[in-house]
Amino acid sequence: MDQIKNLDPRIDRILYSEEQINERVKELADQINQDYFGKKLLVIGILKGAFMFMSDLCKRLEVNHRVDFMALSSYGDKSVSNGSVGIVMDIRSDINDKNVLIVEDIIDTGYTMDFLLNLLKSRNPTSVEICSFLRKKESLKKDVPIKYLGFDVPNYWIVGYGLDLAEELRTLPFIATVKK
Ligand code: IMP
Ligand code: MG
Repeated sequence: MDQIKNLDPRIDRILYSEEQINERVKELADQINQDYFGKKLLVIGILKGAFMFMSDLCKRLEVNHRVDFMALSSYGDKSVSNGSVGIVMDIRSDINDKNVLIVEDIIDTGYTMDFLLNLLKSRNPTSVEICSFLRKKESLKKDVPIKYLGFDVPNYWIVGYGLDLAEELRTLPFIATVKK
């Protein structure tokens, strides 16, 4: 594989190849297409991490949908969450009476998603569900209800497919762990 040949030295182990990612995204989209059949959906992508997943997923949606984006700050370049979350950029849509689907790259402690879920619920949508491509089950501190999950990953720092290491390695087409 070409992607292995020029592997960045910071990468430790590839967890999911581009092919495995595509396959899982397709399965998630199929599920969403079934669940929202005949309904209208507002898909909210969380920047920057979710941009690749959001794009791949939405290309496969067959239900009527619009997209919007939100940027949140949780812990910048650091790798330890302290639980404080802020809004860097809000959505421009009114979500009142809408079926909202939050699309996220990874849920680690769950603080970011817990904050976001409470915020969006306070705006009176018809429904809000979470679609996260990855979850670090072992480091969860908040119990967040993930309706659509791609994969559970081990408690290592993950890069690629939108996920960064201090803003780098974000656009790798595969998902990998980095060396400690
Ligand atoms: P949480 O609030 O601890 O659940 O953190 C969620 C956010 O932290 C995600 O949206 C990611 O942007 C970022 N994050 C958590 N773990 C990783 C990782 O392993 N690699 C890259 N980003 C991560
Ligand atoms: Mg994120």
